[in-house]
Amino acid sequence: MQSLKGAAYLAARGFLDHLLGELPEYYRVDEELVGCWSADRDFRDPVAGRNIYWTRNVWREPFLLEFDSISQAAKALRSLQRNWAPYPTRLHRRTALIAEALPPLPAKPKAFPFDLPTAPMGGFTLLDEHLLLGSAACSSPFPNGEFSFVEDREGPPSRAYRKLWEALLFAGKLPGPGDRCVDAGACPGGWTWALARLGADVLAIDRAPIEASVAAMPGVRFMKHDAFTLKPEEVGAVDWFCSDVICYPEALYDWIGVWRESGLAKNFICTIKMQGAGFDKATTDRFAAIPGSKVLHLWHNKRELPWLNLRDDAGPKGG
Ligand SMILES: C[S@@+](CC[C@H](N)C(=O)[O-])C[C@H]1O[C@@H](n2cnc3c(N)ncnc32)[C@H](O)[C@@H]1O
Repeated sequence: MQSLKGAAYLAARGFLDHLLGELPEYYRVDEELVGCWSADRDFRDPVAGRNIYWTRNVWREPFLLEFDSISQAAKALRSLQRNWAPYPTRLHRRTALIAEALPPLPAKPKAFPFDLPTAPMGGFTLLDEHLLLGSAACSSPFPNGEFSFVEDREGPPSRAYRKLWEALLFAGKLPGPGDRCVDAGACPGGWTWALARLGADVLAIDRAPIEASVAAMPGVRFMKHDAFTLKPEEVGAVDWFCSDVICYPEALYDWIGVWRESGLAKNFICTIKMQGAGFDKATTDRFAAIPGSKVLHLWHNKRELPWLNLRDDAGPKGG
């Protein structure tokens, strides 16, 4: 087994072009897996320390493994840890046979909420019949960054609630009874439904009305308004400021600035929506530079990046 310097980046599904734009010096591309690694000891990862957004998983400690047989490959991986997700890029049958010789991975949809898995989840692919690229350490606790929720097909009026659920899992804390939330850009009401289901009070703001069944949930109040022109002082203090408003990233950034300056919002979960096929990296970097921020593409996101900014309950954050 040969350790490599650098990393391999698995693109957010369908966004390989965005990822390649973020990785100007890559070594090889296998399907949506971009290798930015080398066996050269002097190799310096050209993107180490930079924010790379359009990934669903990062293979942080890549290695090459030469092997003769399927059982030998599986045994070598198993000796490192239990969990290995195959990412087939070629030799699909052979990749599947190695995966079948390894312990099974959790595949069932997960009921929200749940704790993010703590057991390491590795990844591997075959570069040729006798050469495997793998990493025991990966950024996502899910196989190839993918998982699904047990869905509620009756209550929420849209499936957008799944991306709020996933963002909350990565936030590591949840709104609950006694918390006051703003849901801006709330129509038809998926996020409001999810917040109200957690027992929080929700002020749902949109220019279009939310679904009547969601508006009638305990703790929900709907306000028909342009979210941008509603002053924080008119809303008051909120524990969670959530926005799924469709707007340019700069407009979101400026508007969030008003809320941050007001000091009236504790925790933010906002979707930075990209326009068309573009990626506004400059504004995304500005979001990421706000102290305490995370910007990361999640499995349930499409052409958008959630921005999370959470206040430590021990006290307010600077910046
Ligand atoms: C992607 S949808 C939100 C979906 C919602 N999160 C859900 O879970 O069902 C975006 C919403 O933003 C709203 N929107 C766009 N500009 C707005 C503005 N300036 N003020 C309020 N709402 C706005 C649109 O009316 C639309 O309903």
